[in-house]
Amino acid sequence: MVFFAIPFTKPPELKGTLELPGLLSWMAFGDINAHIKGINEFPAADIPPLWLTFVSFHNMVVLGMYFILITIVASYKLWKKTLYDTRWLLKLFIWSIPLPLAACQLGWIAAEVGRQPWIVYGLLKTAQAQSINVSAGEILFSIVLFGIIYLLLGGLYIYLLVREVKHGPQRANV
Ligand code: HEM
Repeated sequence: MVFFAIPFTKPPELKGTLELPGLLSWMAFGDINAHIKGINEFPAADIPPLWLTFVSFHNMVVLGMYFILITIVASYKLWKKTLYDTRWLLKLFIWSIPLPLAACQLGWIAAEVGRQPWIVYGLLKTAQAQSINVSAGEILFSIVLFGIIYLLLGGLYIYLLVREVKHGPQRANV
């Protein structure tokens, strides 16, 4: 199993690898000698863009691990009753608000780019799936329109978020 490597597309190869041979075979098949089909064993035309898939997937996982880590630290501090006095952690939480959104985008990029050139794996290629009825201009128009709607929604989200943060939490009625 490869723990760390820098991927290259042409020719497909990994550089600077840190690996433990047999671990992935054991995890997948319970046998350290089982064969795991490598990306270089697929026809060149069926290999997705490696760099983007790799970088987006790994950054998503790095963010996931970061969320787990800060949750463990915060849970410990909550248990010790020092969470609300630990200003650096509270500040870190505020600065971390956009990160799950970034992780979602990275996960989506990993899923979309990683399944290329297929739109339905093994059945239909992306190149065969384009509509003959919808023109490129119409697609561009709807992308721009959706882009504007999402920008407006994003602006509203940030506005409401900042307003709530400035307003502060409600006093608990206990
Ligand atoms: C903890 C580490 C994480 C692991 C091991 C992980 C693993 C995965 C895997 C295996 C996929 C599927 C890729 C594919 O289609 O083949 C995926 C997709 C995705 N992940 Fe993660 N993920 C992690 C963290 C996160 C986090 C923290 C978020 C967001 C807050 C996230 C959001 C997504 C999204 C939106 C997709 C795309 C789903 C789709 O369009 O099919 N992931 N992730």
